[in-house]
Amino acid sequence: QGHRKESKTMKILVLGGAGYIGSHTVYELIDAGEEVVIIDNLETGHAEAVHPDAKFYKGDISDKSFLNEVFQKENIEAVIHFAALKAVGESVQKPLEYYRNNLNSLMNVIAGMREFGVKNLVFSSSCTVYGQADVLPVTEQTPRKQAESPYGNTKAMCEDIMRDFAKVESGMNLLALRYFNPIGAHPSALIGELPNGVPNNLIPFLTQTVAGIRPQLSVFGDDYNTPDGSPIRDYIDVVDLAKAHVVAIRRLLDGKNKANYEYFNIGTGNGLSVLGLIKAFEKATGEKVNYKIVGRRAGDIEKVWADTTLANQELGWKAEVPIEETLANAWKWQQALMKK
Ligand code: NAD
Ligand code: WQD
Repeated sequence: QGHRKESKTMKILVLGGAGYIGSHTVYELIDAGEEVVIIDNLETGHAEAVHPDAKFYKGDISDKSFLNEVFQKENIEAVIHFAALKAVGESVQKPLEYYRNNLNSLMNVIAGMREFGVKNLVFSSSCTVYGQADVLPVTEQTPRKQAESPYGNTKAMCEDIMRDFAKVESGMNLLALRYFNPIGAHPSALIGELPNGVPNNLIPFLTQTVAGIRPQLSVFGDDYNTPDGSPIRDYIDVVDLAKAHVVAIRRLLDGKNKANYEYFNIGTGNGLSVLGLIKAFEKATGEKVNYKIVGRRAGDIEKVWADTTLANQELGWKAEVPIEETLANAWKWQQALMKK
């Protein structure tokens, strides 16, 4: 408590705070009374997604001197690092860009934190580090598998960098959240997912199809070993996910972490198939989804969902938003975009 009082003017630095998950997290942080500073190069993020009460620096964190200038100017007590390139297919085409951006960014962040005495970091990792796990649901003890893409490999490598760094910097606290499949939008429809060009991910492609921007949604395969043949994922509401960052930061600031490098699964604990999700969307919105079953997408895994016991117990966090509400919010956001 005392610590929180003293640090009233201390700020949380959110890297990638103009992006999809970062912008939702900034909204939750500000609702929780935190002061927020954002850095984003707007490469995939959007200026309109920057919360009006946050201080915004436009720039690239793979530029170390720029990042250190912000550490110098602002009184930062913790960092949440979302800034990364994340398109799996593009990473196969442009591996160097992905390794350079995602690895240099993390290394600059932890070096800058050490230099400026900032002790707490929360990092965006991904369920991609598990690949196709042999046993489901996956716990944090489930072995990681060799990444299928350079993007996935950057997440595994960033986790390893954090682990190795934490071993020698015992005064610093690093925490990785392994997100499953984040979807949905803020219920206000002020912010949401806004991919550039043709979406790679299921929900933006689906909502754009229902909106008439895309003629048809392709369902990538119905011949998997799952009850309806379509692949299974753990779809986590983006506001629930944002709240996981608020509690993770609080854990570090309050000194409740049990090790100086920790990692947690952040999902709902429920698996849902692509066809199941389409049905849930239709039920939640009353809209019809025009879809067609096509062949499998290269590199897709069959099924994955999270065991979230550790996050439930240690972070005191649990996914709360029902899937229909998440899908209704995704649709509300798509409709809001159409009016812009
Ligand atoms: P996003 O692309 O919307 O957000 C990333 C933000 O970082 C963007 O605003 C981008 O402009 C910014 N950025 C990228 N490189 C930068 C740099 N060098 N300097 C400054 N800004 C930079 O993506 P998102 O979905 O919000 O993902 C956030 C994080 O979560 C990423 O690290 C991503 O890998 C991870 N993640 C995402 C998902 C998902 O499905 N969306 C799943 C697991 C993990
Ligand atoms: C979900 C399901 C597709 C589009 C990716 C990354 C992963 C993590 C989360 C960052 C799959 C199916 C999709 C479409 C479809 N990101 N689909 N038609 O592939 O589970 O995970 O985002 O770390 O690393 O790989 O997410 O939304 O692309 O696909 O049928 O047009 O929807 O086959 O089963 P994915 P997704």
